[in-house]
Amino acid sequence: MSMQKKIAWVTGGTGGIGSGICQALAKAGYQVVAGYSNEAKAKAWQQEQKEAGFDMGISYADVTSFDSVAQSYADICARFGPVTVLVNNAGITADGMLKKMDAEQWRSVISTNLDSVFNTSKACLDGMLEQQFGRIINISSINGEKGQVGQTNYSAAKAGMHGFTKALAQETARKGITVNTISPGYIATDMIMKIREDIRESIKAQIPVGRFGEPEDIARLVVFLADEASSFITGANIDANGGQFMH
Ligand code: CAA
Repeated sequence: MSMQKKIAWVTGGTGGIGSGICQALAKAGYQVVAGYSNEAKAKAWQQEQKEAGFDMGISYADVTSFDSVAQSYADICARFGPVTVLVNNAGITADGMLKKMDAEQWRSVISTNLDSVFNTSKACLDGMLEQQFGRIINISSINGEKGQVGQTNYSAAKAGMHGFTKALAQETARKGITVNTISPGYIATDMIMKIREDIRESIKAQIPVGRFGEPEDIARLVVFLADEASSFITGANIDANGGQFMH
């Protein structure tokens, strides 16, 4: 066994859930590289992490662009080594009733939340096959499972992620690579703070545990799935939603 740290690439790593995932993986001994789209934010984030005792790598990618992601992967390989844990966490919302949704709201959410998964997985797959080991963990959503008023775009992209998970899991099952989905419920991050307050409160009232989730509620599942010992779990979709959706 090499003593070299495993490389974990977390897209959207500087965001709410992303930061929690990066910290949990770093604590578990991974060299973490956070993917980012906003350089100023990422540099400040990296500094903050340093002050908190975390040595995080960062790498730019426009996750909607195949070429930009390929370039980021090459950059990560050159500076750190090949990625064996890929966490597809980058995602946006652009909510609106379909009646009012424009094509750009549709396109931006599908490309950021779903095209991104194709782009990053393609970038990492050959290296994982070479190492005969890999973990791809797709951060989907409760709303990809149950649907949500105002989220035809987001629900479609998030459901699509799990379809991707199941297909790729079958392709790689004999190659030491697992592919799984985590479906978070409503997690207390900037993303849900964008929801109008009265609507947000009515959503909170629908969560049996009586609170929004925390990034750590998701991050601990990522660490669990990334572990070498989790090799029998593949093609799964694991909920962490405070009981809001049981199925
Ligand atoms: N079921 C059925 N109909 C509903 C409804 C519901 N739950 N909620 C609202 N409606 C109806 C309203 O009654 C209204 O109908 P009429 O026009 O016939 O009166 C219509 O839908 C429009 O409702 P709004 O007035 O709320 O419309 P709006 O345009 O002002 O707002 C919206 C639309 C922006 C989508 C707003 O409803 C909203 O923000 N909803 C919450 C969406 C949400 O949960 N987003 C999650 C973001 S966080 C995230 O995505 C992370 C994650 O993974 C969980």
